[in-house]
Amino acid sequence: MNFSGQTAIITGAGQGIGREIALKFAEAGANIAVCDVMEDKVAQTAELCKDKGVKSASYICDVRNADGVKETVNKILDNFGKIDILINNAGVTRDGLLMKMKVEDWEFVLDVNLKGSFNFIKACSRIMMKQREGKIVNVASVIGLIGNIGQANYSASKAGVIALTKSSAKELAKRNIRVNAVAPGFIKTAMTDRIPEDIALKMKELIPLGSFGDPASVSNAIMFLCSEYASYITGQVLVVDGGMVM
Ligand SMILES: NC(=O)c1ccc[n+]([C@@H]2O[C@H](COP(=O)([O-])OP(=O)(O)OC[C@H]3O[C@@H](n4cnc5c(N)ncnc54)[C@H](O)[C@@H]3O)[C@@H](O)[C@H]2O)c1
Repeated sequence: MNFSGQTAIITGAGQGIGREIALKFAEAGANIAVCDVMEDKVAQTAELCKDKGVKSASYICDVRNADGVKETVNKILDNFGKIDILINNAGVTRDGLLMKMKVEDWEFVLDVNLKGSFNFIKACSRIMMKQREGKIVNVASVIGLIGNIGQANYSASKAGVIALTKSSAKELAKRNIRVNAVAPGFIKTAMTDRIPEDIALKMKELIPLGSFGDPASVSNAIMFLCSEYASYITGQVLVVDGGMVM
């Protein structure tokens, strides 16, 4: 796939799936703007993208802050001239059983995962509408489809991301902006490294393809959704989970 000359924003690109997405788009020729709250790590991602021969810059941006997001997106527009692709990847977990879940943990997860995606879609779609072209992919989760014990906040946020994807897709289609979501299952990153070994083994038994996925399995699906191969696809959720949910 070739994204030469296009500008892609990736949120939460300091590590894990977000960094992988940034590197894969850079390899495919896109210029890369990466955002995260982890200053050193996101700067490192931008350097790694530059090593692939494209323009890249990092931005310290908390996706929860609507004014900060607007300011960051304007800076990116000034620096890159246009915004073709937005990947809403920043995400967090604060797991706990419903009865014990603190209101702060509910709000934190909803704010980062759902409000953060809304903030970036709002800021970028304004620009994409003027361009009459754009691709947005939101990183949801299979947990947003099926729920999970101890993840009421996370599952609600990701179900919200899926609904946000569909509403945005309907609103923005007339302006040639496609909005899709990916729903990863268990992918090997810092987020899943926290799962105790015995539970991880049990989870693998539920995955027909027999293992956790690599971050590349998610970035491949995202690149497909942003490519011309997916030009007639909008409002969809592409599940990337080794067959766990079907
Ligand atoms: N790893 C998995 O198994 C899995 C499965 C399904 C979905 N996902 C989703 O994929 C995405 C990436 O997950 P990951 O596994 O790479 O996680 P990760 O924890 O390794 O990376 C998440 C990144 O988001 C950044 N971030 C967190 N809060 C932020 C904020 N307020 N503003 C800006 N950036 C912020 C972090 O600093 C970090 O760099 C998340 O949305 C996650 O929910 C992951």
